Amino acid sequence: MKILILTSGGDAPGMNMIIYQLRKAFKKNLFYCEDGIKGLINGNIYNINDLNLQNDFQFKAGSVIGSSRCPEFQKETGFKEGLSYAKQFDYVVVLGGNGSYKGCKQLTENNVKTIFVPSTIDNDVDISDYSQGFDTAVSSCKFYIENTMPTINTFKRCCIYEVMGRKCGKIATETFKSCKCDYLISDEKDLKYNKITKIINDNFSKRKGSSIILRENIIEKEDILDTLQKKCPNVEIKYSVIGYLQRGFIPTKKELKIAKLFAKNIVKLINIKSKSKALVIKKNILEVID
Ligand code: F6P
Repeated sequence: MKILILTSGGDAPGMNMIIYQLRKAFKKNLFYCEDGIKGLINGNIYNINDLNLQNDFQFKAGSVIGSSRCPEFQKETGFKEGLSYAKQFDYVVVLGGNGSYKGCKQLTENNVKTIFVPSTIDNDVDISDYSQGFDTAVSSCKFYIENTMPTINTFKRCCIYEVMGRKCGKIATETFKSCKCDYLISDEKDLKYNKITKIINDNFSKRKGSSIILRENIIEKEDILDTLQKKCPNVEIKYSVIGYLQRGFIPTKKELKIAKLFAKNIVKLINIKSKSKALVIKKNILEVID
């Protein structure tokens, strides 16, 4: 039995734990694509044992096998190349987002058995309530905010915290809730300047700072800073991009537990020679779907 694993798109904390568990289960039979789908198209495929890995890599974020965003796979030639390599394996395990799931479906239609695990910090994989990496991403934002607000409060400043989520506001919303911040901008319609100004000025008059959560890709940093600074001349408005801390943060206990659960089910499906499947979390329960 030959199994291939690849990680695709933005890496998600927890991916390494799955790689570790599959290596433990399949030993010499596990192969990996170097740098995700790009490696599949170019045939950069190696045995997992060729990788020189640190002893504790499974507890760290990132993906030790590399990842990529690869639109070429959606084109006919790219897909054909990838398919020819995928066909050499009994199973292809894919950790990624919506695009990767679509790719799995296409491979399945071409007689390649795939197992898909939703993995992206944005938590925007349509088929699942939860995607690997989200809990850690939110936790990193909480860490960042809780460790910067004391100084923001000292100066009674306002800080706009930019969080990730190219098309999806779930990191923003969950961070807002878990940090009890002052205002949430997870969508363009939330840019209600009068409301925001009142919050900042009221907090200032109570000798308090303000925290605003802003999802990336809604408004340019300079635009929101200029507008709020003009409306709140007494308060210093700051802007912090939480950035790659969200992808590189040490996976939370919950994340590692979910990753192990995913891994256990991948192994089970392969051992019973299942057809192509996706593993999803619905209402906190793992489900196996076609
Ligand atoms: O993986 C998803 C994500 O973290 C988005 O939230 C973000 O917009 C994007 O990746 C950034 O990715 P990169 O900078 O690696 O292209």
